[in-house]
Amino acid sequence: MEDLNLNNKKILIRVDFNVPIQNNHITSDMRIRASIPTIQLALKQNAKVIIMSHLGRPQEGKYQKKFSLFPVFEYLKKIFKKNKVSFSNNLDKIKIHSGELLVLENVRFNIGEKNNDIVLSKKYAALCDIFVMDAFGSAHRKESSTFGVGMFAKIACAGPLLISELKALRTALKNPRRPMIAVIGGSKISTKFKLLKSLARIADTVIVGGAIANTFLAIDYRIGQSLYEPKFIDMAKEIRNQYNILIPIDSRVGTSFSTKSPAIVKKPFEIHDNEEIMDLGDKSINNIKNIIKKSKTILWNGPLGVFEFPNFNVGTKELAQSIADSTAFSIAGGGETLSVINMFNIQDKISYISTGGGAFLEFIEGNKLPAIYMLEMVKKTLQNVM
Ligand code: 3PG
Repeated sequence: MEDLNLNNKKILIRVDFNVPIQNNHITSDMRIRASIPTIQLALKQNAKVIIMSHLGRPQEGKYQKKFSLFPVFEYLKKIFKKNKVSFSNNLDKIKIHSGELLVLENVRFNIGEKNNDIVLSKKYAALCDIFVMDAFGSAHRKESSTFGVGMFAKIACAGPLLISELKALRTALKNPRRPMIAVIGGSKISTKFKLLKSLARIADTVIVGGAIANTFLAIDYRIGQSLYEPKFIDMAKEIRNQYNILIPIDSRVGTSFSTKSPAIVKKPFEIHDNEEIMDLGDKSINNIKNIIKKSKTILWNGPLGVFEFPNFNVGTKELAQSIADSTAFSIAGGGETLSVINMFNIQDKISYISTGGGAFLEFIEGNKLPAIYMLEMVKKTLQNVM
């Protein structure tokens, strides 16, 4: 996008404004803020700027207020005070002049969006002279607004946010400064084991927490009521034998999943059948801090315990603080990780915070993201004609 002349052109930008909204109020504007420089770039060049995004997962063809992007439009109106900003829920009646910004209603209300429908893709493409794919957070989706539109647009290109996301991820994953540490926590075990394997191949040490760590502990110990996934124990064993995985040597356990439960530090073999691991113990935390101090690259996804409960957030808090204090190149991504970063207010101390959730994880796993594939294909076709 930065290489093109945008003056007076109709620019359709796919952004990821899938943000949390409660009672018409945006509770985290991180994704919107990350896209503002892209919109500004186009407006400064006096382009006619149309932006589109999805929000949540509504049923296609059916308007539901709670999935409307109207609150995002109101937010943008306040940011771009000097420009005319409008909102449209009708793709057939788009009117826009140079220097104006038009926000389209949630693309997932449109029939065919999810299935990358050709008719809808062509309709989006007809709205613009240049299509800009800048929604890294949605780059793993092969939908009309992320994929099909680019195939039919006169020109399709990558936006600055998408490019900076890819650059940051490549810095961390290809020839990282070593030692490189990966941190994987959280409760979604099934989606994280593939990621863990990919990262174990690259990182010098993988620090595990949450339910992932519990699955490693379950290889050798009975861990009471703790959340873990029996079907991944064999895979955990294989990974542990092959790679350098830092498994907790002590944990904070409780007898009820609540903010009231006292947190008791125990070694794995001391855990009773009625107890549940909800956080790391002090010795494990110290080990992590020492490793982080020596690292030069840190890739972080997921909390190390039940960070929402103050009685079980010690490990996650100490991890967040160690990463914030580190001089290593640090990159963090994923929904829960962003909540942790907000909670401990360390946004400015992380080298790069990705706007991607699923896309971030899929990229690290080594999957080709459909939107990137589309941009590469479009580029190749263009080169062949020239
Ligand atoms: C996300 O929040 O990860 C992206 O916006 C993608 O949303 P989706 O999983 O509903 O496609």
